[in-house]
Amino acid sequence: MKRIALVTGANKGLGLETARQLAEEGVTVLMASRNKEKGATAVQKLKVDGLDVEFVQLEVTNEGEVEALVHHIDTTYGKLDILVNNAGIMHHAEATGANSTEMVKAEVLRETFDVNFFGLVSLTQKLLPLLKKSESGRIVNVSSILGSNTVQSDETSPWSGIKPFAYNASKSALNSFTVHLAAALKDTNIKVNSAHPGWVKTDLGGQNAPLETPEGAMTSVSLSSADFTGKFVHNGEEIAW
Ligand SMILES: NC(=O)c1ccc[n+]([C@@H]2O[C@H](COP(=O)([O-])OP(=O)(O)OC[C@H]3O[C@@H](n4cnc5c(N)ncnc54)[C@H](OP(=O)(O)O)[C@@H]3O)[C@@H](O)[C@H]2O)c1
Repeated sequence: MKRIALVTGANKGLGLETARQLAEEGVTVLMASRNKEKGATAVQKLKVDGLDVEFVQLEVTNEGEVEALVHHIDTTYGKLDILVNNAGIMHHAEATGANSTEMVKAEVLRETFDVNFFGLVSLTQKLLPLLKKSESGRIVNVSSILGSNTVQSDETSPWSGIKPFAYNASKSALNSFTVHLAAALKDTNIKVNSAHPGWVKTDLGGQNAPLETPEGAMTSVSLSSADFTGKFVHNGEEIAW
């Protein structure tokens, strides 16, 4: 039976490329987008190459849309093999990457955590029954090396100069979710890992980034069939939490 994947934020950037690479491996990919038109356009881009993809509507902070999507996957496929929690934001107030810790507003923190953490955790929890029906469920939490407290507290690391606090803290919290969920699921067929894609040219990563999306998506794609759990990985190398 074909593997079924859900990729959130799949209408552009790393999500779109992750969907493409998974579909090229023969996976049926549900490409989630919060915007119907953008989602339909993205799906069409992959369908013209003969790939097995489907548009699904998902604003990750909208509980009603989450529930409708879970129902759709259950009634159409009866299981989920791969969940790539890719959708994420860096609030425009923090987009320079400068240290915002002293000034960041509560609403920026809340908005960032709503998408990068609360929405993601709730979606994952609601999909667990379907992932448990898979022979080998995989959850990939798309994090960032900027969320590594080991890296952020090392002044010699080039990454430690990039301190948008809300974004980095949301990815640290996401990493904590990975560790805790992997432990909770250790006696199941589900493996849970965090991915750092690298610094990638996208709307979020900006045009100065050295990597293109095909290379950036590779970590999420490889973790979609990982044989380990509870790790933070970039291109096959483990990153310190
Ligand atoms: N690019 C990098 O250098 C880099 C580095 C490390 C980690 N990451 C992580 O990689 C992931 C993908 O980022 P990207 O670089 O591909 O950024 P991107 O091009 O800005 O794409 C982000 C995607 O997330 C979607 N999204 C945002 N908020 C959403 C919400 N509330 N509900 C549903 N979808 C939502 C966006 O939809 P809309 O088009 O509707 O806004 C878009 O599809 C993020 O988690 C990011 O933190 C990126």
